Amino acid sequence: MLKVNVKGCESFVDAAKYDSYVQKALNAFDVLESEKGAGNDFLGWKHLPSETPVQMLADIDAICANWKAKGVDLVIAIGIGGSYLGAKCVIEALSHNFGRQLKKKDAPEVVFAGNNLSEEYLAELMDLALERNVACIVISKSGTTTEPAVAFRIVKQYIEDTYGKAEAAERIVAITDAARGALKTLSTQEGYKTFVVPDNVGGRFSVLTPVGLLPIAAAGFDIRELLSGALAAEKALAVKSKDNPAVVYAAMRNLLFSELGKKVEILVNYNPKLTYVAEWWKQLYGESEGKDGTGIFPASVNNTADLHSMGQFIQEGSRVMFETVLHVEQAQRRVIIGSDEQNLDQLNFLAGKHVEHCNHMAELGTKLAHIDGGVPQMEVAFEKVDARNLGELLYFFEFACGVSAYALGVNPFNQPGVEAYKKNMFALLEKPGYEEATKAIQARL
Ligand code: PA5
Repeated sequence: MLKVNVKGCESFVDAAKYDSYVQKALNAFDVLESEKGAGNDFLGWKHLPSETPVQMLADIDAICANWKAKGVDLVIAIGIGGSYLGAKCVIEALSHNFGRQLKKKDAPEVVFAGNNLSEEYLAELMDLALERNVACIVISKSGTTTEPAVAFRIVKQYIEDTYGKAEAAERIVAITDAARGALKTLSTQEGYKTFVVPDNVGGRFSVLTPVGLLPIAAAGFDIRELLSGALAAEKALAVKSKDNPAVVYAAMRNLLFSELGKKVEILVNYNPKLTYVAEWWKQLYGESEGKDGTGIFPASVNNTADLHSMGQFIQEGSRVMFETVLHVEQAQRRVIIGSDEQNLDQLNFLAGKHVEHCNHMAELGTKLAHIDGGVPQMEVAFEKVDARNLGELLYFFEFACGVSAYALGVNPFNQPGVEAYKKNMFALLEKPGYEEATKAIQARL
């Protein structure tokens, strides 16, 4: 199981205070486990790893096999927020950094759309589609979100025009609510294969449902391994203990926030493959905790690159942040630094060393420097970036999020604030039903 190390916070916090926050986290753990807290109708994610239907995995395999037989080499996964970031983060973490340039073709390339309203993005996506053999996964739990709906209208039209309507039904899969929403109605009418986002699983907690699993499997990655890691975490984290990693993480971040005024948590990685893990984590914690005028602002940096851009601020700027470092114990590839007779770059002191050794020393040096600069450090340590460890990591962050948000005193499972921009956008776009809002908003311009 991954480990949470809080040694880098010890010089900032009083031990008795920490114990009191562990107690708060243990109380919050009880609320989560009793399934009687606020938002308790959205706890389906807790048992997804242990209750994954075998038939659902077989259906996912069948779709991937069918697309392979048709020679599909581009899958467009349409969705936004929780209907996008889980799949994106796992695919990015497991992909070869240069797979596209190497033209590795063991599985289709999965690209994402519907997570923005950029006209250029969609036009350029269609440039790519023209050169490729295309299938599409459209994902929207509500089935009514504007960004994916706009993208899907365009991609659907392209697929129908290119392959015909009957074949389009073989190439489009929808993942949505069991019974409600425009996407459900459309899928039924068009005869698309559909998967259900369970009613009791919110978008940002849905990576281990078909929302995440189908695009990840379509990209050629092992979803059973991902689920096995998540299952290990489901079992380990269900044990009530002050050493439970979710309790430790929740206790320390709440203490740093409430007692030391650390309003910003920066999730730090030292491996570019983890960039989108941070994007997924930001949604998870931002939407779950940022409400009722409280919450830690989740931010991220990709090191060592960002040490040369954000490093100055983190070292010496406003003292509002703490860091949580994703510490990966082993690189899965080996590159040894060679020796050079002339040594003009003066790097011979590193000859014979692995690049990852330098990476770890950069990480350690940064940790100590940031502690000296007044930035508490936590570490989430795991063995390597593979499907099993990722499954464990994602489940850990979900579970810890529930504990942490309850300890903070907010409902982790709603997101009332997400609606505000939508109302304004619909009013500005003059959507039917928004006539009064349109008049009111135009008067403000
Ligand atoms: O976490 C959430 O619930 C949201 O961020 C949603 O995932 C996002 O708004 C997309 O919603 P939908 O899947 O209904 O299109």
